[in-house]
Amino acid sequence: MKKLWGGRFTKKTDGLVEEFTASIGFDHLLVEEDIRGSMAHARMLGACGILTPEESENIIEGLGKIRDAVRAGEISFSVEHEDIHMNIEKLLIEEIGPLGGKLHTGRSRNDQVALDMHLYVRARTVEIVELLARLQQALVGQAERHVDTLLPGYTHLQRAQPVRLAHHLLAYVSMFQRDAERLMDSYKRVNTSPLGAGAVAGTTFPIDRWMVAEELGFDRIYDNSMDAVSDRDFLVEFLSAASLIMVHLSRLSEELILWSSEEFGYIELDDAFCTGSSMMPQKKNPDVPELIRGKAGRVFGHLMALLATLKALPLTYNKDMQEDKEGLFDTVNTLTGSLRLMAPMLESMKVNGERMRRSAEAGFANATDFADYLVKKGVPFREAHEVVGRMVLYCIQSGKTLGECSLEEFRRFTPLVEADIHQILDSERVVESRNIPGGTAREAVLEALSEKKRMIAETFRWTSTVNR
Ligand code: ARG
Repeated sequence: MKKLWGGRFTKKTDGLVEEFTASIGFDHLLVEEDIRGSMAHARMLGACGILTPEESENIIEGLGKIRDAVRAGEISFSVEHEDIHMNIEKLLIEEIGPLGGKLHTGRSRNDQVALDMHLYVRARTVEIVELLARLQQALVGQAERHVDTLLPGYTHLQRAQPVRLAHHLLAYVSMFQRDAERLMDSYKRVNTSPLGAGAVAGTTFPIDRWMVAEELGFDRIYDNSMDAVSDRDFLVEFLSAASLIMVHLSRLSEELILWSSEEFGYIELDDAFCTGSSMMPQKKNPDVPELIRGKAGRVFGHLMALLATLKALPLTYNKDMQEDKEGLFDTVNTLTGSLRLMAPMLESMKVNGERMRRSAEAGFANATDFADYLVKKGVPFREAHEVVGRMVLYCIQSGKTLGECSLEEFRRFTPLVEADIHQILDSERVVESRNIPGGTAREAVLEALSEKKRMIAETFRWTSTVNR
């Protein structure tokens, strides 16, 4: 089969080279974007008088037929035509004859592939923002059910101070909010049209770059043809936003894994999200969160790989850049798969509030409150810290919690303690006394809940108004 670029060649391409250089094995995923971009380009060529209106229409019609055939699963692409762009062009020529060869007027694969990638990443950006908002809704749903469920807040994985489960879950809502905002911000840069840059220096044809951009829903066009064909920053941004989302999903997964262990016994994941052991009949393993945690690494790897690919490339397009695709596609797969599972897994998990509360009360999660109590009576914090520390040691040695000590026992450590101490140390009171924005009091948590719900609604509004 003759190559679309075969003119200056006298020999057939080596078979191994053909295989090695081809990207069709993965860039066939860009088929919708490629055809959509070509249709807009052909329409513009007609409108600008570069093609006749009839030629333009016939090309668009031919592309439509190819698209239908692709959707019906009737097309198989070939390695000889290297990539999705040339496969489609070859199919078009087969479909409508030599006129198909006019489609590539004023265009290069360099601005074409950049266009396809912008369209692809734009749509995925909006989808992922949507998935993030859905995950936030799942977290908010559990948070609403567990405003009054107390558990220890941990530092160093040691019980630190009691918190509401709602408060703990809302921390993740905040993390995923930043993730969504990062993507919404990067959308501005993704939504820029490179078409018209040609191979590197633009084109001699009187094309209308804005017409194509507007048809495809872009807000801007690249203002430099060289930048347009060599820019892959938008992919780095996407992979880096994806990496952070995976970090957050992985931290959440880690907690689900710990919490569902018998040692913690805080939650039970639904059977539908767990698997068994081939040998040990009693096992119910949290494979889904483990895999999400495990898959984070490959996404970071794709980010590193792309940075390394780009770092020493001279302007403008270099074939190295074809390496941007597999990592991107794998990232989209990994990330959307993880987000899609995390939401229903959280919605269906059962919380053992009793067990959480027992942990919150068993340790010394109220020790800071005892110290603060002394501070309010004029003791310098450092001294109060020392006194409480000694008393905690006494409790550990005598197998008691602070709350179980008598007034007389407290007074052995400081005469300042009065009869109200037991109330002060009550976990309920401990969380309630932190009534500041971002704190654990009921009022603060309810305020945070309604603020988060408002933000999620705003995100959904964004996804329904932007182009994809
Ligand atoms: N398959 C190529 C890629 O993904 C498309 C652009 C090829 N351009 C070229 N001049 N060889 O990067």
